[in-house]
Amino acid sequence: MGQQFGRRSWAEPWKIKMVEPLRMTTKEDREKALVEAGFNTFLLKSEDVYIDLLTDSGTNAMSDRQWAGMMLGDEAYAGSRNFYNLEEAVRKYYGYKYLIPTHQGRGAEHLISQAAIKKGQFVPGNMYFTTTRLHQELAGGVFTDVIIDEAHNSQNPHPFKGNVDLEKLESLIKREGAEKIAYISLAGTVNMAGGQPVSMANVKALRALTDRHGIKVYLDATRMVENAYFIQEREEGYARKTIAEILLEFCSYTDGAWMSAKKDSLVNIGGWLAVNNWTLFEELRNLVVVYEGLHTYGGLAGRDMEAMAIGIAESVADDHVHSRIGQVRYLGEMLTAWNIPIVLPVGGHAVFLDARGFYPHIPQIQFPAQTLAAELYLDSGIRSMERGIASAGRDPKTGDHYYPRLELTRLTIPRRVYTQAHMDVVAESVRAVYEAREKTQGLKMAYEPKYLRFFQARFERM
Ligand SMILES: Cc1ncc(COP(=O)(O)O)c(C=O)c1O
Repeated sequence: MGQQFGRRSWAEPWKIKMVEPLRMTTKEDREKALVEAGFNTFLLKSEDVYIDLLTDSGTNAMSDRQWAGMMLGDEAYAGSRNFYNLEEAVRKYYGYKYLIPTHQGRGAEHLISQAAIKKGQFVPGNMYFTTTRLHQELAGGVFTDVIIDEAHNSQNPHPFKGNVDLEKLESLIKREGAEKIAYISLAGTVNMAGGQPVSMANVKALRALTDRHGIKVYLDATRMVENAYFIQEREEGYARKTIAEILLEFCSYTDGAWMSAKKDSLVNIGGWLAVNNWTLFEELRNLVVVYEGLHTYGGLAGRDMEAMAIGIAESVADDHVHSRIGQVRYLGEMLTAWNIPIVLPVGGHAVFLDARGFYPHIPQIQFPAQTLAAELYLDSGIRSMERGIASAGRDPKTGDHYYPRLELTRLTIPRRVYTQAHMDVVAESVRAVYEAREKTQGLKMAYEPKYLRFFQARFERM
């Protein structure tokens, strides 16, 4: 079976033209590397890793067309041709009027937070994301989670676990007043919930509610293409629409978006911020020259913007998204068949292992998900990422840890990089670690950085 609609295969709509050899390591090599890295997979050297599922961010394989585009870089300080190509691509596929390029997603998060949040205002969102919430807090905002309760339960099969709970949002607006809400921070395929989508019906209803109160909605569009796939698959009335049509419609219910193009858009670096309001755009265009670079490059080379413009067009092709999500699902289905606890339904960009299900004997303060990431690396050289208490950080008011209900280890699949056999190796390694779960001990944090601690924290065995 090939890549044909109506059949079950998710086979890739591309073939491999160039390969990057990987280094094989022994268990002794990995034990040494892990101790040196303080049991934090972010601190491992990439050459010590066999299958790198740390993130899908900037780790995608570019196409021959994107590489050809790199050669067309117009490296002018101002007015690069590639900026205009990018602007056209964002207008065409995401629909926003005014574009500001940034070096990556958090550059855009910084700008929107500085421009749109007044000190003490609330920023309701459908679950936090690490860098997003930090920029909102640094701008004086107070993040408030308004995602539906189902999102906090790893086994709940709700098809749109990324949805905003409109009642929670409305009661916050009633309690605080609309002027105390900076904007709604809406994310597609919610990362921290396991890559769970938002339905079109939900964003429409959110638009109606916010319009009644005069509140803006800004979208984290980082994985909105993948969100569009789930709408096409699961929501009535969308099965015959293309991913591109669904994406455009979804974005039309929002006032602007920020983007880490390192995910959906198939590039190794890049991001943007786009809005429809001219006055806000002017403010952002002014701010970008302070923090990123001139408003026609925003910290990027011309060639990066060209690769991004081409990547955006490639990213919305239905056969590409079908195969990308098919591969993630293939891994998820293997693990569920073996009764290994994962977040369900399987999300768009990753399979999230439920570390509480692996290690019920390890208390959350002994970092079960971090422990699981370390054990997986030790077993097979597979690198994953903690998405639990270490990632959640501390409450800036009380200084205490946030204790998220979800304690997850993320196996994130880069786009167009690994094969089905790699996925089999990953599944087999997860099973080996699961079988050894009862003997596994937790970790304690030995060094804690002030900001986004999960990136650089160090741990020791209990
Ligand atoms: C949902 C989401 N938003 C924002 C970001 C931040 O983007 P970047 O890593 O490009 O700064 C990320 C990436 O990690 C993300 O997953």
